[in-house]
Amino acid sequence: MQNKKFYVSYNTVHKLVKKLAGELLATGYDPDVIVAIGSGGFIPARIIKTFINRPIYAVGISYYGLDNKHRDHPTKIQWIDEVQSQLVGKKVLLIDEVDDSRATLAYCVGELLKYEPEEIAVLVLHNKLKEKDVDFPVEIKRYFAGIEIPDLWIKYPWDAEDIEAHTAAEREMLSEMKE
Ligand code: G4P
Ligand code: MG
Repeated sequence: MQNKKFYVSYNTVHKLVKKLAGELLATGYDPDVIVAIGSGGFIPARIIKTFINRPIYAVGISYYGLDNKHRDHPTKIQWIDEVQSQLVGKKVLLIDEVDDSRATLAYCVGELLKYEPEEIAVLVLHNKLKEKDVDFPVEIKRYFAGIEIPDLWIKYPWDAEDIEAHTAAEREMLSEMKE
C-alpha cells in the first residue's frame, strides 16, 4: 500500500456505475440477479439497480474476518441461504467496489459457481493495475471495471467522516492530475 490516496466522491461513484451499467447492457448481457459483496459492494449495487432493476442479494466476505485481524484467506462473514436457490441457471451480476488483490472476488466467484448459475459477470468500480494474487476461474467471460488505476489506496466516500472535505479532496486531486 502506498501513502498516496485516490479520492472518490459519491458523484464519481454514481457516474462510474451508470457508465458500467451502459457498457454491460451494450454487450447484450441481461442479468437476472445482482449479488453485492459487502460491505464495499453495497452502495454500488444499489446505484446499479437504478439502471438495471433486478433484485439484490448480499453476501459478506472479508479478508480480515469479524475481529478485523488479518487472515490468510477470505472468509464468509454472512452468506444468505436464499442466494443458493436464487442463482441456479441464472445470469448473475456480481458487484464489488474494488479489484485489488482479487482474492476476495475470486473466492466469492468460486463459491457462487457451485450454485450453477448460467453465467457470472463481474463488475467493479476500480481495478488496480498490479500483479493479482489469484486469477478468476475460466467461467468468468465478462469483466467490467469503471476505471483502472495505479496501486494507490482508494478513499471511498462512505468511509469519509467529513464528506465536504472528502469531496473537496477529490476535486483538488483531479485538478492536480490535469496539471
Ligand atoms: P479484492 O478481491 O476485491 O481484490 O479484494 P482484496 O481481498 O484484495 O481486499 C481486501 C479488502 O481490502 C477488501 O475489503 C477490499 O474492499 C479492501 N480494499 C482493497 N483495496 C482498497 C482500497 O484501495 N481502498 C479501500 N477503501 N479498500 C480497499 P473487505 O475485507 O471486503 O471489507 P469491506 O471494506 O468491503 O467491508
Ligand atoms: Mg470489499
